[in-house]
Amino acid sequence: MKVTVNNPPAGGDIAKISAECLVCGVWEGDGKNLPKGVDALTDGAISRFFKKNKKFGKLYEASNFVISPKKHKNLEKVVLFGLGKKEKLEPVYLRQFAAAVGKTQAKGAKSLSLYLPKEEKVSERADLVVAGFAAGLFDPGHYKTDKENGKSKIEILEILSEEDLRKVKDGVEKGLIIAETIDKVREVINLPANIVTPHYMVNFAKKIAADNKLKIEVFSEKQVNEMGMGIMASVAKGSEEDLYFVVMRYLGGGSGAKTLALVGKGITFDSGGISIKPGEAMEWMKMDMAGAAACLGAMEVIAKLKLKTNVVCAVPLTENLPSGKASKPGDVVKGLSGKTVEIINTDAEGRLVLADALTYVQNKFKPDFIVDVATLTGASIVALGNWAAAILGRPQNFIDEVIKTGEDSGERFWQLPLYEEYREQLKSYIADIANISSVRGGGTETGGKFLEEFVGEKVAWAHLDIVPNAWEETERPYASRGATGIPLVTLVNLALALSKK
Ligand code: BES
Ligand code: MN
Ligand code: ZN
Repeated sequence: MKVTVNNPPAGGDIAKISAECLVCGVWEGDGKNLPKGVDALTDGAISRFFKKNKKFGKLYEASNFVISPKKHKNLEKVVLFGLGKKEKLEPVYLRQFAAAVGKTQAKGAKSLSLYLPKEEKVSERADLVVAGFAAGLFDPGHYKTDKENGKSKIEILEILSEEDLRKVKDGVEKGLIIAETIDKVREVINLPANIVTPHYMVNFAKKIAADNKLKIEVFSEKQVNEMGMGIMASVAKGSEEDLYFVVMRYLGGGSGAKTLALVGKGITFDSGGISIKPGEAMEWMKMDMAGAAACLGAMEVIAKLKLKTNVVCAVPLTENLPSGKASKPGDVVKGLSGKTVEIINTDAEGRLVLADALTYVQNKFKPDFIVDVATLTGASIVALGNWAAAILGRPQNFIDEVIKTGEDSGERFWQLPLYEEYREQLKSYIADIANISSVRGGGTETGGKFLEEFVGEKVAWAHLDIVPNAWEETERPYASRGATGIPLVTLVNLALALSKK
């Protein structure tokens, strides 16, 4: 898809618009904010419509006006598309607005013009508009034999903006880079576990590294054991597939620059292991590598944007399956930090692979900041529904920064606490720590508290539990079912913010 940027035709000469479809973003209850000449093109139908529908413009609300070929040689329809109330528009809604336009209005068309009303919150965020629009075109029907049906034909998106076009163009460029990678990330999360094995993910990572000239190391299961990462290795014992631990590096900041470490959970299928999950919705567990996929994708975008910062990425990749060789409840394992873990429940495997990955990145790279990304607990959905990922960590100013960066990226995070009491719940009588809480409740917090055990006191650390919004269980106006690709944009913008420090 190509994106062009223009001012709306001067003097309302709509004939200059060559797209098949013109979508105009409108504020709720405000019919005045349209490009000149559009109402005339509909012989005043638009102004008559607004007279009868004074409150039109709720987010995702749409109204179509068919244009006859006598009136315009290319334009087939004008669509008014609701942005909601101006004061309520947040980046998350802008991104979803653009996605909804892509999802619902681009069908069949090769070109679409999108008019953005004059308003900083909109016009300065062409990155979100472009990334959102492209995300709306995403076709999840990877294995459908009738491909044509789901495929977008859009070749050109024209953005019509009243603002300084140079600024808009910068945003467009960033948005396109994000769009391309997030597409790949969503697809690899959606693909089933008979295709996306740990080895497949290694190739996914290698391709990103090769395409973007990133340093990559791939440790085998044998090496992981030899290096002393026994907590990580314990998760892979039940699987026929080998475990891999992938470490990628982007050194854009030089030697004096700060280092951000991204650590992503890469369980390509989580059956629960011996503590096996119930059958209902178990197929969903193919997405348990969403954290790893987002981190790897973020590395690609960070490299493409040539950010002046150092970022390392570490992803443990394995399946969690039961077998005669699998870890058993009650097993005690020892990790790279020297600490021992009593595995009470083999289904709390994400924290196990992450524990050694966290120790490894700290030992090896001495990062200033760590963000780990994981589909760690179902409890995070109980806490937040689908509308924000959980964030836990410290110090508070770093957590605040990640939350703020998330807001600007159209990705929501809501903080949960790491009280000392949660550590009490993880006590083991036989080892240093147990992998699940001894009492009910606070599942996301005890997950975070377990990870904190493996994070040095001096490093700034955020744990993102992305179960709530990494996956759409149902079709949305702005998204198809399946992976969303969060929190890729936040990770990129965080690296961008750190590069300016
Ligand atoms: N991969 C799951 C978490 C998950 C749940 C991801 C729902 C996507 C959707 C994780 O490994 C897990 O099984 N967590 C357990 C933790 C429990 C055993 C302490 C859970 O949430 O039940
Ligand atoms: Mn699990
Ligand atoms: Zn899991």
